[in-house]
Amino acid sequence: MRTALITGASRGIGHGIALVLAARGYGLTITSRTAEALEGVRDELLAAGAVRVIAPAADMADRPALPGLVEAHRDEFGSMHALIVNAGVGTAGNISSFDMTRFDKTLEVNLASAMVLIQNSIPLLRRAAQDDPVRGAKIIGLSSITGAYAERGLAVYGASKAALLSLLETVNLEESRNGITATALAPAYVDTDLSAWVTDRVPADSMIPVSDVVQLVATLLELTSNTVISRIVMARKATNGYCA
Ligand SMILES: NC(=O)c1ccc[n+]([C@@H]2O[C@H](COP(=O)([O-])OP(=O)(O)OC[C@H]3O[C@@H](n4cnc5c(N)ncnc54)[C@H](OP(=O)(O)O)[C@@H]3O)[C@@H](O)[C@H]2O)c1
Repeated sequence: MRTALITGASRGIGHGIALVLAARGYGLTITSRTAEALEGVRDELLAAGAVRVIAPAADMADRPALPGLVEAHRDEFGSMHALIVNAGVGTAGNISSFDMTRFDKTLEVNLASAMVLIQNSIPLLRRAAQDDPVRGAKIIGLSSITGAYAERGLAVYGASKAALLSLLETVNLEESRNGITATALAPAYVDTDLSAWVTDRVPADSMIPVSDVVQLVATLLELTSNTVISRIVMARKATNGYCA
């Protein structure tokens, strides 16, 4: 059985990824801050075909709690074929007046949590790659187009996502020889709760649908470990290709 740990799986993109992996018979660890929401999603995933699902809640800003998520996955499944680093927080504001408490929170949730989860998962991912050397093990992280191309008013969010891009590229340099490959997806606005604040300016029906992001993840997980794709930028139609 292939297994995955997915952060931010209660809603939006993470929920979509969890559903497609459930349909493929994965064993899943899903997490977010909200235990009640996770229980509902757990039932949904089992009905969709997941073999086993555990749903420990944790706040990505609670750094000491994060190794426990990987331990829970290890105790349930023994190895990890995919780590989906998806949970993230959005923050808008100009550099000149940006509050440093929000800066710290954004970097903690969007970057430090990814580092801790990747670091703790590497032994389990290496084990999965040994068991399945053709496909190896994968890390997929949700970065943002603002991490690839700077955008006015999104400096701190973009900086956290740029750092995530770099972190995942370095995973490939250090771990692809061990069968672990990483991809950062860097989409423009995706139609989820996270982008609801901007719908007066960017209509929801012009945004990237969750299903397109999910389709890419599903395809990446089927590639052999010989192929390394460090980043995929997903722009919206009728834009210059460099903005959210
Ligand atoms: N939507 C976009 O336009 C867009 C574009 C580019 C990149 N992205 C990135 O894609 C990822 C997923 O975004 P989304 O649009 O699917 O967002 P979303 O619909 O708001 O869902 C976010 C998910 O993350 C969880 N989460 C939020 N804060 C958390 C925290 N501090 N600790 C643990 N879990 C937390 C939420 O669950 P709880 O609230 O239950 O904790 C939820 O499951 C994010 O990293 C985001 O930056 C999104």
